[in-house]
Amino acid sequence: MRRSLDCASEVETAHIARALAANLRAGDLLLLEGPLGAGKTFFTQALIKSLGVSEQVTSPTFVIVKSYQGALPIHHIDAYRLLDAPDPRQAFDELDIDVEGSVTIVEWGKNFDLTGSALHIEIEIGPGQSRTLTLEGPDARWGDLQV
Ligand SMILES: Nc1ncnc2c1ncn2[C@@H]1O[C@H](COP(=O)(O)OP(=O)(O)OP(=O)(O)O)[C@@H](O)[C@H]1O
Ligand SMILES: [Mg+2]
Repeated sequence: MRRSLDCASEVETAHIARALAANLRAGDLLLLEGPLGAGKTFFTQALIKSLGVSEQVTSPTFVIVKSYQGALPIHHIDAYRLLDAPDPRQAFDELDIDVEGSVTIVEWGKNFDLTGSALHIEIEIGPGQSRTLTLEGPDARWGDLQV
């Protein structure tokens, strides 16, 4: 499954994040890619809020992982600094995330498909507020998603 979605504005990006959130279940792993300022954190904030988390969702850039309890347990990871580790995959494992029992969202995450079934989300920056989100992964759920 691979599909691209055009977002003309933040509102549309948030709308897609909410549509995805409504279909998530424990064990889902979302790997976000895209340049600085693409909207990886923005997308994740909308998604996590949509899972019923009322506390503020802030970027985990410095702490690497932030965890929340919404409709499901959620882990939000910024893997940017892990990419410099001698063995990034080992550094990720050492975070000791319960991927099977939660929804895990990883910014700069393309190298961390721990389950073999992750959903990759690439965000490209267009003119102004426009973005293109490309979803890719083996799960037909995301191809069928109505947005
Ligand atoms: N269509 C859009 N979708 C998402 N964000 C948008 C859009 N248009 C503008 N923005 C803005 O772009 C910025 C994206 O910043 P954000 O921190 O989410 O990026 P990031 O990809 O997480 O960057 P970093 O690599 O530094 O973590 C936000 O200020 C957001 O409001
Ligand atoms: Mg970010």
